This record gives sequence, C-alpha cells and structure tokens, in this order.
Amino acid sequence: MSQIGATGRRGDAPPGESGALDQTNKPSVREAAAPALAAVGVSKHFGVVRALDDVTLAVRSGEILALVGENGAGKSTLVRIFEGVYRPDQGALTAGGAPQAFRSPSDAHALGIRVIHQEPDIVPDLSIAENLFLGDFRRIHGVFLDRADLARRTRQMLAEFGLEKDLGPWIRAGDLGPAQRQLMEIMRALRGGLRVLALDEPTSSLTEEEAQRLFRVVRRLRDDGVGIVYISHRMREVRDLADRVAVLRDGRLVAERRTAEFPESEIVQAMVGRPIADLYERGARRRGEAVLSVRGLTTKRVRDVSFDVHSGEVVGLAGLVGAGRSELAEAIFGHDRMLAGSVAVRGRTIRLRSPADAIAAGIGFAPEDRKSQALLLMRSVKDNISLAVPDLISRFDFVDPGAERRIATEFADRLRIRTPSLDAAVSNLSGGNQQKVVLGRWLARRPKVLILDEPTRGIDVGAKAEIYRLIAELAGEGIALLVISSEMPELLGMADRILVMAGGRLVAELDREAANEERILSLAMAENLTRTETVRTP
Ligand SMILES: Nc1ncnc2c1ncn2[C@@H]1O[C@H](COP(=O)(O)OP(=O)(O)OP(=O)(O)O)[C@@H](O)[C@H]1O
Ligand SMILES: [Mg+2]
Repeated sequence: MSQIGATGRRGDAPPGESGALDQTNKPSVREAAAPALAAVGVSKHFGVVRALDDVTLAVRSGEILALVGENGAGKSTLVRIFEGVYRPDQGALTAGGAPQAFRSPSDAHALGIRVIHQEPDIVPDLSIAENLFLGDFRRIHGVFLDRADLARRTRQMLAEFGLEKDLGPWIRAGDLGPAQRQLMEIMRALRGGLRVLALDEPTSSLTEEEAQRLFRVVRRLRDDGVGIVYISHRMREVRDLADRVAVLRDGRLVAERRTAEFPESEIVQAMVGRPIADLYERGARRRGEAVLSVRGLTTKRVRDVSFDVHSGEVVGLAGLVGAGRSELAEAIFGHDRMLAGSVAVRGRTIRLRSPADAIAAGIGFAPEDRKSQALLLMRSVKDNISLAVPDLISRFDFVDPGAERRIATEFADRLRIRTPSLDAAVSNLSGGNQQKVVLGRWLARRPKVLILDEPTRGIDVGAKAEIYRLIAELAGEGIALLVISSEMPELLGMADRILVMAGGRLVAELDREAANEERILSLAMAENLTRTETVRTP
C-alpha cells in the first residue's frame, strides 16, 4: 500500500493537478522545530462553567498526543478551540510558532488543522465522492462536474485506505457504517494538506477490528509528520497508541508525560484525583430463577434468538457492530416489531406493542443512542434522572419534590455527573455526562430486568468503576441484567455469562471461565455457524 498523509503526494498525479493527497501546506519535518500547534494560557468559560483554565499544551509534528480526562474535563472544548469553533476567552494559539486567531473552522482548515468529531460531519445524502471533494469541484474540470475524474480520484483515495473493494465513489455517505464514515472524514482532511489531526473519541462506535484499522491509519499519519491529538476514555488504546499523554482535570492541565514513563494507574489517578484499585469489583451473587425468557425472537434483523437471563445474573451480549445486538434489545423493549417469537418476564408472556408494555412488565432499557431515544435534552438533569422513578417518588398521585431531588442527587454524585446544578439543562452537558444521566435514570428505577446498551460508551474511567459497582449491586439485589458492550475487557470483567451474536443470530454462549477475547472475536466473526455453540465449564 502506498503511503498516505503528509508526504503522500503521488508521483503519478498528472502535472498541474493537485493530487488527492496534496500536501502543500505542510512544512517538512526538518523545518518544524516549533510545535505544529500549541495552546498558550488558554481559558474558556460557558456561563459559570469554567471549561478550560489557563491551559498550555503543544502538539508536535510526528507525534500522537493522547488527551485524557474525566467527562466534562474540557477535552472537546480544547479541540474545538484548536479548530476555530470556539474562541478562547484568554490565551492564544500558535501554529508552527506563529500566533493565530481563528475566526472560524475554515481558518483552521486552511492551515491543515482538522478535527474528527464524534458526531459525523458529513452530508448523508451526497455520495462519498461528493463528500470528499465538496467545495473542490471547480478545480476538477472548469465549470462542469467531471464525474469520471471525480470517480477516479475517489477510487484512488479509497485504495490508499484499502477500501476500494468495499466502497465505490457513488455510494451514499449516509449508508456508511461509523468506521467507514470516520475514514472518509480523515480522507477529506488529507485532501487539503494535513498538519494537525485531532480525533475526539473516534473508536466509541467502532469494533475492535475497525479500531485496529483506524490505528494503522493514525500511526502512518504520525510517521508522515502529522501531529495527532487523540481523545479517548479507553486506557488500553492510549497506552498502545500515544507517544505522550496529557491529562485535563476540571479544565486544567494536571499532567503531561511520555507514555512509557506514565503508568496507567498514575494516568487514572491524575484524571480522577484518586486511585482506583479494582475496576470490576463484584460482590457475592446468587443466580436465581429465570426472569427474562426470550424464545424464537425474530425481527427484520434478528433471527430466531432464544435465551434466559436469571435473577442476580449479569449476561453480556457480544458481537460485531451490525450483529443485531441493539436490534434484539430494542425488540425486547417493544421498540422494534417482532415478526415471531415471545418475550416473558417471570414466566408471563408480555404483549409487546410499545415500550410502555415492556416498562409495565418490569423491563428497563438504557439505549445506545442517548440523544435520539433517551434524553429530554431541554429538561433538567434532575427531571431526566427522576422521570423514570414515578413509583418511588409519587404516592397517591403526590409527587414528593424532596424525594425526587434526593434520588437525583444520589445518582448525580455516584456517577460523578458534572453539571453546574441539578436544574441545568442536559443539552449543555458534555457527551459522557449525558450518558451518565441516561444510566442514572434506569439504575435509580431498579426494574426486574435491566438492559444496558453500551453503558459506558464515552464514560470516563472513574465513573466506569462506579457503573460496574452499580451493576454488581443491582445483580446482588436480584435484578436480571443484559449488558451489550463492544469493549471486551468490560464484558469479561463484569459478565457471569456471555452470549455472542453474529449476522442476527445467537451463535454462542460462554461461561465466564470459558470466555476470552480471542474466542469471542472468532465466534463473532463466524457468521455462518449453523448452530449455537455452547461452552460451559463443569
Ligand atoms: N456549549 C456549551 N454550553 C455550556 N456548557 C458547555 C458547552 N460546551 C461545553 N460545556 C461545558 O464545559 C465543560 C467541558 O466540556 P467538554 O465537552 O469539553 O468535556 P469533555 O472533556 O470533552 O467531556 P467528555 O469526556 O464527556 O466528552 C463541561 O462542564 C460542559 O458541560
Ligand atoms: Mg468530549
């Protein structure tokens, strides 16, 4: 594969035409003695919230700098300042040693500074080719759109990323999976010449395999001299990938060291301000009778799935993205229409017409996509948490505001939700803090069956530990939990049993002792297994 990135100009590009990987903005690595990009004494407030406080941090050419910190620590705010989305209240930026005052993202883009945001930044109804070369059609062929040339250049770019077999130029961007979309955004960033690339939690919706592919691309860009800022809550990624780690806490830079000299436990301690001993603490648990019984469940995307979850049990649901895990959860919760099969709670089959039926039967569900399905963004943190606990707070139709606030306070504390107050609108919270609010609501309600879809996506390590503890606590109280997760260490750490889905089917059931990453992954990729493999230890 030919190289991509900062020096990736292809020798065979026709003269006079700026190649797909035009890198004219980028200084040669030797020239770049000054940091590629630096924040100098940067502060940023949102109302009373101090998102960044006097942050001085440099990104060098040819390094991967991990930016870590708890939810709400200011990471996204800093890269938004890097990209000219926000302007600092105080302090300044320099690029290649020269002071910069970006008025908008296009100023930053012109200097080769790009951010891949967690929310996709593409035009879903346009093709891949059009998205890649948006704003650059003019240069292709006078005033007319030269489709053949556009297709050729897009194919060339796809080939650089090894995607030419899977994707064609005229595929609608909205039909791409999250991994392909991110790679497309990176390709688009490369087009203008790339000096600094910041990735804000890029792997949160990727599978392990897709993440590995992304890492290869990121490392190659680094080797080609691009300065990379990498935001993630996954410590293993940070260790594997980063040359240097910078830690933000409450908007301040509290540590900055080479990864090799920064043990994980110390990174975590710098982030949360306290040591975390055991992530997956689990108390004594007793598996009781079956609470959730699913039989032959079939939807458009899920085929003939049967399993039980018992009282006091945490069942993990593994699989690649697209394996049908979320669809299964949504069907059990009455979101998706079942074509065949049944769902029973404690032996009683539920008539599932809508989520209201599932909730009435004692099923709770914290979905993966918190924005569209779960949160009332304009309502307060308090309302969002206590909303689902009507029977705890209202007696004889009487809502007890004191109890409501107590519950909200308890969970906001336990999950370390960072918000100016319980009455603040959820829409202004950082991504991870919004996720905590969704979880808080369902953890507070304590249903008979609780289904959690990617419960710790985007959540910082301190709060993760608390969520695992809450899950263990709920299991200890006899609740049946079904937890979907793409993070293997998490699944292995908290589940008593792991179900593996592939291609809409349940392909395996592994006991805690029999499960390991390799085994789960190989089962998850074995779409054409004809019958369920069951592995139990005696
Ligand atoms: N537009 C905004 N209006 C009000 N407050 C904001 C806004 N953007 C960010 N904040 C606040 O600034 C603080 C920092 O948020 P930021 O999004 O930078 O955190 P983060 O480190 O990226 O967290 P996460 O890991 O959860 O994504 C948070 O307290 C957040 O609520
Ligand atoms: Mg963020």
